[in-house]
Amino acid sequence: MKVLVIGSGAREHALVWKLGQSKEVTKIYCAPGNAGIKKLAECVNIKAEDIDKLLSFAIKESIDLTVVGPEAPLTMGIVDRFSQEGLKVFGPNKAASKLEGSKIYSKDFMKKYNIPTARYESFADRESALKGLKDFQYPVVIKADGLAAGKGVLICSNHSEAEEAVNDMMSDKKFGEAGLSIVMEEFLDGIEASLLCFVSKNKIIPMESARDYKKIYEGDKGANTGGMGCFSPNTIFTDELLDHITLNILNNIENGFIKEKIEYSGVLFIGLMITKEGSKVLEFNVRFGDPEAEVVLVRLESDLTEIIDKTIEGTLEKSDLQWTSKKSLCIIAASGGYPFKYEKGKIINGLDKADKDIIIFHGGTKEDNGHICTNGGRVIAVTALGESIEEARKEAYKNIEKINFENMYYRSDIGKIQI
Ligand code: AMP
Ligand code: GLY
Repeated sequence: MKVLVIGSGAREHALVWKLGQSKEVTKIYCAPGNAGIKKLAECVNIKAEDIDKLLSFAIKESIDLTVVGPEAPLTMGIVDRFSQEGLKVFGPNKAASKLEGSKIYSKDFMKKYNIPTARYESFADRESALKGLKDFQYPVVIKADGLAAGKGVLICSNHSEAEEAVNDMMSDKKFGEAGLSIVMEEFLDGIEASLLCFVSKNKIIPMESARDYKKIYEGDKGANTGGMGCFSPNTIFTDELLDHITLNILNNIENGFIKEKIEYSGVLFIGLMITKEGSKVLEFNVRFGDPEAEVVLVRLESDLTEIIDKTIEGTLEKSDLQWTSKKSLCIIAASGGYPFKYEKGKIINGLDKADKDIIIFHGGTKEDNGHICTNGGRVIAVTALGESIEEARKEAYKNIEKINFENMYYRSDIGKIQI
């Protein structure tokens, strides 16, 4: 089986790593890939959003299965295009991907189908948005409607910050078209949890849970990022909590799919806030999370191509997913300055010094003159397994210390306090 993975981050490296263990897989291509992926797959220089070129490549190479990592090609309709050509592709179609592509659509879906979420209003013009602020307390959360690479959510602690956020998005177009419409919502206090699920023709089957660290600084301070570290399972995730979430959230999402005539196959990532008043949905993503993929896929014992096949056929069962009881944790090493301005092209040293049971997934890396160099904000994900999260944490930190590049930054508190 020839597989094409689309994307270039640590999530895609984890996908390539896991797919490479499938007995069916004979060859993996990755478009565009990175310096780490290159060791396991043939990288093809086509951007993840260039659907025409990806399609021609898949036809030319007789690709048997295409796995789409990032959200942008999904929301652009890559799955519809590949399916029309009779190619097998893993991910939700364009209509279903709107659950991530538009936060207004997604919040309206939650409201319509009784899925607990933060109270919100949506606005398409600046004046109404500014007036709308009076209906919220501080902090208030302001979100760009469209895709903004994980940066379109601003938590504003007072009126002047909120005004600035509205102006930035709606008149200064800091997030381009994505911020022309916004969602304004109440701030939820609680513990975050990421629940990634396989969705097999509208049937939701949860994977093991994860805890992402969204903020750039220790103690969950500073700006939101794509994620600075992660562990699995999330210690707050008891069986009772999963039952509660199944009853109040997953069943309602399935019902919404049917009523809206959505046919969902792929991965649905549910971002949750576990509050004193119960679990509420923060957001939907229509793909694996990054860094969630890194910690969840290393715990999956079953063959990923078999799971994907069954998901697409609509026959996946919970028993098809076997997990190791080991726990996992990853730490992201980022370029200093991320999530704002940062430099690229720094030589990464020490990658070969890591212990052999440590998995280093590459994010923004590139090979240059025989050196592996930084090529993005989130550079590598140092991932360890252990009998406990504490053990995985110790291993991951021991090993990240062997690696360095100029201005390397990582949080020192990933997994430190688990609840
Ligand atoms: P989203 O892309 O909607 O998940 O938002 C990104 C991050 O912003 C989340 O992972 C949370 O850390 C934070 N966030 C989003 N919405 C809220 C909210 N209503 N209350 C508190 N934090 C939020
Ligand atoms: N880690 C959050 C995301 O992938 O959006």
